[in-house]
Amino acid sequence: MVLTIEPFNKQKHDRSRFCCGQDSLDHYFRKQASQDLKKHISSVFVLMDDSQTSVLAYYTLSAYTIDISSLDTALAKRLPRYPQLPTTLLGRLAVDQQQQGQRFGELMLVDALKRALITSQQVASLAVVAEALNERAVNFYTKYGFHPFRHHPMKLYLPMKSIAALF
Ligand SMILES: CC(C)(COP(=O)(O)OP(=O)(O)OC[C@H]1O[C@@H](n2cnc3c(N)ncnc32)[C@H](O)[C@@H]1OP(=O)(O)O)[C@@H](O)C(=O)NCCC(=O)NCCS
Repeated sequence: MVLTIEPFNKQKHDRSRFCCGQDSLDHYFRKQASQDLKKHISSVFVLMDDSQTSVLAYYTLSAYTIDISSLDTALAKRLPRYPQLPTTLLGRLAVDQQQQGQRFGELMLVDALKRALITSQQVASLAVVAEALNERAVNFYTKYGFHPFRHHPMKLYLPMKSIAALF
């Protein structure tokens, strides 16, 4: 099976049967993603296999800012005292239920981190921020080195410096 990760194109990619088990992520992908793409609110990337029938997984990336006070003190003290700092938001990441457990989530996460790192060489970004919908998703991101924000345990970040070291 040859896998490709490509920008979402509603003419080409069939998302009608996509189901990851989280209604809000399924609904977003079916009803909102192409509008957000068109309006430059989110970039959407999909995982396809060589049969190109339906989408196996998707993620979204957007520019984002965070409040310096939300970071843990060890990281915050090394940063300038600007109230808002630039980051990259991994707003959504989902794998179709029938495809879960085959490391597609990891593949998509690594692709998103690499893409965020490359983009940050042109438009600076301090970290990738992920929003987890539940405790299991928090565990998934924590596994890859993400840290929770001080007052938002469902929101996590991975410093771009750590991402650069990964690649
Ligand atoms: C969470 C999700 C993206 C993981 O994708 P996946 O393809 O099933 O996971 P992978 O096969 O890549 O697993 C990679 C590792 O993460 C672990 N993992 C997978 N799903 C996990 C979860 N929900 N919680 C904690 N760990 C998880 C796996 O056990 C594996 O760990 P290992 O290296 O110790 O074996 C997928 O289950 C999903 O789409 N869930 C529903 C939507 C969701 O919760 N999205 C998260 C963002 S809000």
